[in-house]
This record gives sequence, C-alpha cells and structure tokens, in this order.
Amino acid sequence: MENKKFYVSTPIYYSNGKPHIGSAYTSVAADVLARWYRVKGFKVYFQTGVDEHGLKMTKAAIAAGFNDVQTFCNRQAEIWSKAWQSLNINFDFFIRTTDKKHEAFVAEFLEKLKERGEIYKGKYKGLYCVDCEEYKEPTDLLSGKCPLHNSLPMKIEEVNYFFKLSKYQQQLIEIIKTDKLKVGPKERKNEILGFLENEPLKDISISRKKVSWGIRIPWDKSQTVYCWVDALLNYLSGGKQYWPCDLHLIGKDILRFHTVLWPALLLAGGYPLPRRVYAHGFFTIQGAKMSKTTGNIVYIEDMVKKYKADALRYYLLKTIPFGRDGDFSEQSLKEIYNADLANNLGNLVQRVSALLVKCVDGDLEKVEAASKDLKMFGLTDAWQKIDAALEKLQFSEALSAIWQLIELANRYIEQKKPWVESAEQRKTLGNLVEVIREIFGMLLPFMPETAQKGLEQFKGPKIKISKPLFLKK
Ligand code: MSP
Repeated sequence: MENKKFYVSTPIYYSNGKPHIGSAYTSVAADVLARWYRVKGFKVYFQTGVDEHGLKMTKAAIAAGFNDVQTFCNRQAEIWSKAWQSLNINFDFFIRTTDKKHEAFVAEFLEKLKERGEIYKGKYKGLYCVDCEEYKEPTDLLSGKCPLHNSLPMKIEEVNYFFKLSKYQQQLIEIIKTDKLKVGPKERKNEILGFLENEPLKDISISRKKVSWGIRIPWDKSQTVYCWVDALLNYLSGGKQYWPCDLHLIGKDILRFHTVLWPALLLAGGYPLPRRVYAHGFFTIQGAKMSKTTGNIVYIEDMVKKYKADALRYYLLKTIPFGRDGDFSEQSLKEIYNADLANNLGNLVQRVSALLVKCVDGDLEKVEAASKDLKMFGLTDAWQKIDAALEKLQFSEALSAIWQLIELANRYIEQKKPWVESAEQRKTLGNLVEVIREIFGMLLPFMPETAQKGLEQFKGPKIKISKPLFLKK
C-alpha cells in the first residue's frame, strides 16, 4: 500500500535580517510535525526557504554595502539555512525565490493566468508599505501610518497588471465556510470570513514598474512580478509533486495573503487548494513588538549558544498555546529550562541511571519490566493524547502529556524506593527503564538531539552514568 503523504510548509522568510525567535517559531512547529508524521509512516515533505525579491531586499543589500543584490541574497540564504540547521530543523527543501526553477515557474504560471483571461492592464494609484510589501487602503492605516511598522507608506501611481481577485469573493467565502480550505484557529477563520463578507474585494496589482529586483513579467519585461505573488508561488513551484499542501503554517500577520490571494490564484490557475492554513500568534518582548528600532530583537544564534537547540525548541512550543500571542523572556526561558528540563527530565534520567549502576552494575539484562505494572503509566493513552494534540496543532498540550509521565515516573521512584533491596527492586528498575525509553520516543520530534542521546543511553545492554542532559543555569 502506498504511504500517505504529508506536505507541510513554513512561510518563506524575508532574509534581509538575521533569524529571530519569531521566525524560529513557525519553523520549529513545522519541524515537529514533519518528524511526527515521519514516525507515523507518512511520506513527508517539509518545505521552507527565503523570500528574496522586492524593495526590502534591495534596500538591505545597499545598506550592507553590496553592489550586487544577488550576492547579498546568497550570503543571507546561507545564514538562514544554517540557522535552521543549528535548531535541528530537518527540512526536505530550502527554496529561494531567486532559484532559476522557481523564477521559470512563476513566469509560466502568470502566462497561464493571462491566457485564461485572469489578468488585465490597469492603473494603480495608492499607497504601499515597503516593510509589509503590501498595498494599503487608507482604512488600513493609523494616523496615516502602517500600524504594523509605524511607518509612512509610499505613494505610488503607475500602470500595472491586475489580477481579477474580486471575482473570487463568493467562492472564497464558500470554500472557507465549508472547510474545503480549513482555516485555523477558529478566531482566524472568523476574522477572514468577517473580512470577506463585509468588504468588497478589489482586484490586485500583481506587477511593479519601479521595482527592478524581481521576476520579469514574461510578456512585458519592463515590469516585475509583485513579490507576494512570487513568494506564494514557492509552495507550488517547490512542492509540485506533493501538491496539494496539507498544511501551510503561518503567523497571524500574513493570514489574508494565505487565505484570500493564495487560494484565488490557485483557483484562477486551475490548481487544487491547500487543505489547511493555520496561523499562530506573535511573540512579544515585555508586551512590545520586536523591532530593530527598539533594539529588542532576540536572535536565534544567541539563544542557541546559551541554551542549545532543544531547550529553545521546548520553550517556544511549551509556553504559549499555539495560536495565541505571548511574551518571550530570557528569565522565563531560564526558569522553564531549570524546572522542566534540568529538574524533572534531567533528574529522572540521572536518578535512574545512578540506581541501575548501583543496584545491578548497569546491566539492563538483570532488570525486567512487568507489563501489568506498566499499565499504571498509561503509555498508550499518552501516545494518543500527543497524536490528538498535534492533529489540533496544540504543541503545549502534547508536551504536557509527556511531562505528566515524567512526573509520574519521578513519583514512582519515591513510592517504590528501588535503592532499598527488595523482591520488587529489579522489576521497579525495569519498569523505569521502559518508561524512560517511551518518554524519549515521545520526545523525538520535539527535542531530537536530547531524545536520541537518551535512547542511546538506555539502549543497553550496559548503562553508564553519563553527563547530565541539562546543566542547571
Ligand atoms: N516573506 C513573507 C512570507 C511569504 S510566504 C509566501 C514574510 N516573511 S517574514 O519574515 O516577515 O515572516 C515570516 C514568518 O515569521 C511569518 O509567519 C510571521 O508571522 C513570523 N513572525 C515574524 N515575527 C514574529 C514574532 N515576533 N512572533 C511570531 N512569529 C512571527 O512575511
């Protein structure tokens, strides 16, 4: 029987800056799902990458002293792909919008839309926020400024090509309402339906005359493709064989692009729709948005250096329910690190390995788990809880199920006191070994390095006391 497939994507990140914890959030979540579905036997395809065209990139290249934007893009792409590797993000493909294959696909797609009568020439007059790379309506602004970036949008007036987005309004409402395209969490589904039901959709300009850093419109080389159209098409150009995508993971700020423009483009091009779009919340710093001007950006590089990949992965997914906003603070990262990782998990592993060495000379063949005793740990139930939580994208719930087991195992040691010689001693130790192996099995997608180490340590036949998994901070 052919394996079921699971295609999961992250947004492609603007690579003008360095990756921070906000960008890491989507990537870690996608990686956990990809690893989980692989374990479940799915044929998984996990795509991430970088968004390299548009004004933002040109400006950043100039500011960094590069004459050639492509050279700057190459350097940045390496920084981003290395950052993901440092966080153990095991993607299948890292797409770049300057990849020749992607560029050719975008040109082909637009030709197709033109042939199908979905594109026309018109005049664009309005406002544009470079930081969002998005056209703005006066109603989108606060005191004339983009509320997300607190910056004045540019005034633009030029002849562009337009995509007939407006004609898809009813169809979009229908597909989202009926979950043909599942949008989550519920609040986001309501938000987008509210938008579609209350405001007439306008056709959208999909080309730019004054932006030279982009893919040329194939029938009019004086214009380049609007960078959001270019960017959205990455999901299809890179993941064609796995299309339709099973899950686009995004942040809440880019919901409209993914639930309005993207499905409309696919409908216009005659492609199947993605199955699900899920938008997570935002990490703030002391309640404020991370920004260069405030100087409060938390970079992945610094956090990985201090706490290592797995602890950061754990913290990001544990602290806030996926879908909500929450605050990031190094203090709480440290506290959670000490409590959950160094104490709960770390101590369990240290105590059990020390007991094994002391009581049976580290020989795992001398201990044996009793299946009827193991029932009290509710292992099958825990696996099911994790699976159900991940299906709902509730990572913190899945992790809680694992930590309940860890607590149970720690309590079991207290209760059974296996350091005292007794008829039960070897059985108790055997049960603990078994539970620890299961815990590490469950942790594999979340904390791959730690789980691998743990599984290795408890593989047997001989166990040694090794260095603590997490040194207290
Ligand atoms: N390039 C576009 C996406 C194109 S996808 C076809 C883009 N890039 S981005 O780099 O600005 O953002 C990428 C992702 O990071 C988004 O999902 C965004 O929500 C997420 N985050 C950026 N800052 C964040 C936080 N502070 N917290 C959580 N996620 C945030 O938009």
